[in-house]
Amino acid sequence: MNATYDDAPHWDARTQAATRYAAVRARTLALAAPLSAEDQVVQSMPDASSTKWHLGHGSWFFETFLLIPHLAGYCPFDSDFAYLFNSYYEAMGARQPRTERGLLTRPRLEAVMAYRAHVDAAMADLLQDFPPALDGLFDLGLAHEEQHQELILMDILHLFSVSPLAPAYDPAHREPPKVESAGKMLAFEGGVVEIGHAGSSFAFDNEGPRHKTYLEPFQLSDSLVTNAEWLDFIAADGYRQPRWWLSEGWAVVTAQCWDAPFYWRKNGDDWLEMTLAGLRSLDPAAPVRHISYYEADAFAAWARARLPSEAEWEHAEPQLREASGAVWQWTRSSYSSYPRFSPGLGAVGEYNGKFMVGQMVLRGGAGFTSAGHTRPTYRNFFHPHQRWMQSGLRLAKDGVAEQNDLARDVAAGLSAKLKALSPKYFYDAEGSRLFEAICEQPEYYPTRTEMALLERVRPLIAAEIPDNAALVEFGSGAGVKTRQLLDAAPQIVVYSPIDISPDAMEAANAALAADYPRLTIAPMVGDFTQPMRLPPAAQERCRIGFFPGSTIGNFTPEMATAFLANCLVMLGPKARFIVGLDLAKDPAILEAAYDDAAGVTAAFNKNLLHRLNRELGADFDLAAFDHKALWNAAEGRVEMHLVSRRDQTVRIKGTTYPFAASETIHTENAYKFTPEGFAAIAQAAGWRVIQSHQSHDPAFAISVLAPA
Ligand code: SAH
Ligand code: AVI
Repeated sequence: MNATYDDAPHWDARTQAATRYAAVRARTLALAAPLSAEDQVVQSMPDASSTKWHLGHGSWFFETFLLIPHLAGYCPFDSDFAYLFNSYYEAMGARQPRTERGLLTRPRLEAVMAYRAHVDAAMADLLQDFPPALDGLFDLGLAHEEQHQELILMDILHLFSVSPLAPAYDPAHREPPKVESAGKMLAFEGGVVEIGHAGSSFAFDNEGPRHKTYLEPFQLSDSLVTNAEWLDFIAADGYRQPRWWLSEGWAVVTAQCWDAPFYWRKNGDDWLEMTLAGLRSLDPAAPVRHISYYEADAFAAWARARLPSEAEWEHAEPQLREASGAVWQWTRSSYSSYPRFSPGLGAVGEYNGKFMVGQMVLRGGAGFTSAGHTRPTYRNFFHPHQRWMQSGLRLAKDGVAEQNDLARDVAAGLSAKLKALSPKYFYDAEGSRLFEAICEQPEYYPTRTEMALLERVRPLIAAEIPDNAALVEFGSGAGVKTRQLLDAAPQIVVYSPIDISPDAMEAANAALAADYPRLTIAPMVGDFTQPMRLPPAAQERCRIGFFPGSTIGNFTPEMATAFLANCLVMLGPKARFIVGLDLAKDPAILEAAYDDAAGVTAAFNKNLLHRLNRELGADFDLAAFDHKALWNAAEGRVEMHLVSRRDQTVRIKGTTYPFAASETIHTENAYKFTPEGFAAIAQAAGWRVIQSHQSHDPAFAISVLAPA
């Protein structure tokens, strides 16, 4: 055929369509190529189909919806195939029952392959002179074929998983990449947002119309839940505690005796996973997959989070890691129609719309999904009990995360009726140095008292620490007490300190690395009140928490409970948690400890203003504020304040903050505990006290906690 210049764009489009068609259809055959004829006949469960049926059905789709109605003179390959390979289209007549697709030993595989060749030749004819009005149906046919490519892999994995030989489909099959990121919660303000597909590019009918929807503020993890985290859920008896489960889910878990994701197999103390590459040892850092909606929901409840809605997921998608290509991600959204939805015209209107009840939406795309098949608006859907697809999850929470944003926190704190700033902002380089100096002051008894107590009781504590454990320290600072513990417990092989102050941490870790050459140090700089994922070196081991110095006293009791509850999830069900607690005592001793004669604590407190001047360009006159420490008996805490000596104003980033004479900025609480009071807080957070050690006066305590 001669293409004139004027025909060129049309001709180009036709060649492109033919090339796309050939590539998609060839990939289906390539996926079937490693399989024997026997592999391709069997249907291993009602949800799955045989490969042979998938091969026939893809051709049936093109034959039924494009060739028969639109290619003049097309002759169907075999009149029986309309019955054999119709999936669920009522408008196209009767069909082989879904659960009996595996009984089709006839037609022979060769006949199904000949059917494909027949359809492909006719499609080549049709594409020669393709009416643009059929573009949508053509794209649908290719997208449909790609969906069956994923189903071929899902169904073969299931078939091979029930074989006693656990065969490998492809020994070199690539598994999803490890989850590298920190599991950070991203914060979204919400409001009225738009979701759904718009524009002229192809999308399934269920992805539109694009429409407005309202989102409350929410948080969404930037990364997927890993196998290591799932192992914790299992070890925490997650599969045996009804309180985490939806009633329907609990009924399924107990009836089916589920105790792990679909393809996990217990091997002594370890887990194997059935994959397309055969049985492999479970990779703790890989995303968890092949879980039902019920399991995803229970895990989220256990992790004190929830699943995202599909609108939240889509709104956040540009910022997510591993958004697609690893696992489909369960949402808590029921699969139903968007406002103004109307199904496609004709029989293909049955494609999506009629399934809009009783299923849940998954977003993203999986390792099995054909490359380029999905979009951010793509809506996959499955029944809540199904798990043979590559389904995983990422966690969401309500509300805007408290971020470590100095400017925002200062603006909020100084605008409040009772002005206040978080003590976490004390610890710039100078603040960390001043804290070390406080610890040397004769009045500041907690540090030396706790160290003496730790020296005495550390063998008892060390006995609770298993071999090859990881020590996770919160607010590690100079890491002096760390050394006492490491010396008593050489079975600790990994050390993960968490501190907001990089200055304090770098020096401490360099010194530790020199003195403990066999210790793996995996540090994290960050706010320990925010969700974070431990480095793999720690995550893969039994984790021992260490929170010395009575830093827990800098939280309110509500914050302490929430913090301890989060630590339980982070440290896992075999954890121990060693917590240092300053105990209530004579107020004169307490007030002196926070107002030493040398003025070091005063300098530590006022350094906060210096920091705001330096980092935010504030104009605090440091001489116009006094340090004050007082015992608040009603609350059971020492309070630190910065007291304005006179009426004055302070400017920060264009905003003026007025101070009346003797008005204060509340900069720190240091709660002082009773052993019973702390035990109650620990209990409310899911821990129990297994050791409680107390010093001679001045009274200080070290508690060892275990999961309740
Ligand atoms: N553990 C040491 C240091 C205690 S000082 C000891 O017992 O002596 C408190 C430490 O906690 C400091 O190093 C400070 O930088 C860190 N810190 C305070 N608030 C924090 C937060 N929200 N997140 C992470 N680290 C914090
Ligand atoms: C870190 N934290 C436990 C100290 C405390 O005692 O509350 C901080 C501190 N503030 C004044 N002096 C020490």
